[in-house]
Amino acid sequence: MDTLSCIATRHSTRNFKPDMVPDELLHQVIEAGRLAPSGKHMNQNHFLVVRKPEVLERLTKLVREEFAKMEVTPENEANFGGAIKRSKKGDYVFRYNAPVLIIVANKASYGNNMADASCAMENMMLAANALDLGSCWINQLRWLNENPVLLSYLRELGMAEDERVYASLSLGYSALPDGLPNRRILDVTGNPVTYID
Ligand SMILES: Cc1cc2nc3c(=O)[nH]c(=O)nc-3n(C[C@H](O)[C@H](O)[C@H](O)COP(=O)(O)O)c2cc1C
Repeated sequence: MDTLSCIATRHSTRNFKPDMVPDELLHQVIEAGRLAPSGKHMNQNHFLVVRKPEVLERLTKLVREEFAKMEVTPENEANFGGAIKRSKKGDYVFRYNAPVLIIVANKASYGNNMADASCAMENMMLAANALDLGSCWINQLRWLNENPVLLSYLRELGMAEDERVYASLSLGYSALPDGLPNRRILDVTGNPVTYID
């Protein structure tokens, strides 16, 4: 697949087969993230690649429990009001049960933390599409990135004291019958362009 087609056909997958991603493909996706540009070439993204089912389950449970303790407010409603409401109902699975979750952490004190994480995320999503894998940006660990319960568990998993989560990626095979990600090409709305000639 050429680069422009890969960009045009990349879409989020939110239904995954339970099948594990082969190591060789997973490593290629992670390398695409590691090859992303970073401000001043700092290369401070830290990729925590979670495949262990017990850890995925624990993260799912903790996210649900922590959101369930919160109330929807005018300030948070647009960002994670839906996550709070679904968590209170008790069946919220923020990562869509993908077999892999790649958590992208970076230094909390670094001004380009979110930008660098985002470059890595897009590279990984495009690599996934090129490799016939489905992926979806998952933001909940970022919204909870100062939550003490999540912070403590992520530190147990290897995140450093001075790091916080800025994004994460669910990765796996799409649950569509052919196992391929949805590659429909959509008209873009929004994102205005102003040419100044
Ligand atoms: C910063 C950012 C945060 C996102 N967070 C989530 C998320 O938490 N859960 C989710 O299902 N999709 C999330 N998405 C995916 C967007 O909803 C999706 O990219 C958008 O609706 C366009 O659809 P497409 O990816 O299929 O082209 C996020 C995307 C971005 C760029």
